[in-house]
Amino acid sequence: MNKLVIDGGKPLYGELRAQGAKNAVLPILAAASMAEGECIIHNCPGLRDVEKTVIILERLGCKVKREGNTVTIDSSVLTGCRIDEELMREMRSSIIFLGAILTACAKAEVGMPGGCPIGLRPIDLHIKSLKKMGVSIAEEHGYLQCRCERLKGCDVHLDFPSVGATENIMLAAVKAEGTTTITNAAREPEIYDLACFLNKIGAKVKGAGSSVITIEGVEKLHGTEYAIMPDRIVAQTYLIAALITGGRIRICGAEPSHMRAALSLLSEMGAGIKEDETGIELKSSGTLKNVHIIRTMPYPGFPTDIQSPFMALASVAEGTSVFVENIFENRFRHVDELVRMGADIKVEGRSAVVRGVKRLCGANVEAYELRGGAALVLAALSAEGRSTVSGIDYIDRGYEDIEGCLACCGAEICRVCT
Ligand code: UD1
Repeated sequence: MNKLVIDGGKPLYGELRAQGAKNAVLPILAAASMAEGECIIHNCPGLRDVEKTVIILERLGCKVKREGNTVTIDSSVLTGCRIDEELMREMRSSIIFLGAILTACAKAEVGMPGGCPIGLRPIDLHIKSLKKMGVSIAEEHGYLQCRCERLKGCDVHLDFPSVGATENIMLAAVKAEGTTTITNAAREPEIYDLACFLNKIGAKVKGAGSSVITIEGVEKLHGTEYAIMPDRIVAQTYLIAALITGGRIRICGAEPSHMRAALSLLSEMGAGIKEDETGIELKSSGTLKNVHIIRTMPYPGFPTDIQSPFMALASVAEGTSVFVENIFENRFRHVDELVRMGADIKVEGRSAVVRGVKRLCGANVEAYELRGGAALVLAALSAEGRSTVSGIDYIDRGYEDIEGCLACCGAEICRVCT
């Protein structure tokens, strides 16, 4: 079992380069499978989820080459239309392939999706929207069997601005007959990045980044070269790492406009933040104030993905902070582990009340999901003494070489494989 061993209490100082965004690279790689030609995608992070996506592409018949952070996909002979249950279980975002495979093959057979255990994570919005676009969908033995003559553009209203459903509809709509309009679409920067990529391969997508997206179907999509946007959640995690340890960090290539909600809270808590066109710098003022109340919301609200790292921070801030998790119903699994390290946190339904303590103590803790795992690493960096964090396969889903990045800023951290 792999573990991170962390000797806490060292302030972090240094500079890191923002990695490519996990939540942008996965739908973009799926979209590349629809292009008739070669797509060269730069800035792909070295993550397990990217490896799994490459395996899915290969099983669909694409020729894929990976050199460092560049992935080249040749989809000229897409032969497969099935994604096995085992791959779907490992990575929920593989559901994004549904729209892409239907576009390329007019049929698809995919296992029911899995992913981090942070809640029920239904896919009803994906299914309802694709049915509206003319797809017949049946569930048989854990697989979704999907068929369509040709996808048809239509008006789709999402009851909730789901990121995955918005992406799936966009992929299904790019070559559909006529125009598709998505209302109450998700507005996350990763949706905008996907639209930019789609337009580069010949699609006609307008309005991405707003809540109304219009996609005019086109006949053909071609190859291109594209660089994935920086990962806003990873950048925010490392900013918090500097703040929680009382240090200073600069993240080159991070995009501050994607992080307004979190940056304004970090300033309220006492961080000095400087932004320019090359990145973001955070400097601790030596004191850490509480945050009153954090409510997770769809973008541009406070992101659910950074809730747990902020909770680690609030655990050692002055005063009481309240967290309300509105997106996923099971996203407080890190709480018991933070409590093991000496945090004072009470959970009541979707709310958590955090009373700041002077310091956390090193302990053996376990990650149960990606961002909760990152929160435990942050807590361990600030804690007195040694911590071990197990369950780090979850952390590897979203953070490229987390121990290398933190160590180069002065953290005492290493990976132990047993
Ligand atoms: C994406 C991100 C994830 C982030 C989340 C919310 C990727 C790969 N993952 O996940 O990191 O935490 O957005 O910002 O991009 N829902 C339904 N029915 C559906 C679809 C969603 O009820 O058909 C619900 C979900 O259960 C959840 C909420 O909508 O409560 C948000 O889900 P969604 O925006 O779809 O998140 P993901 O795309 O899974």
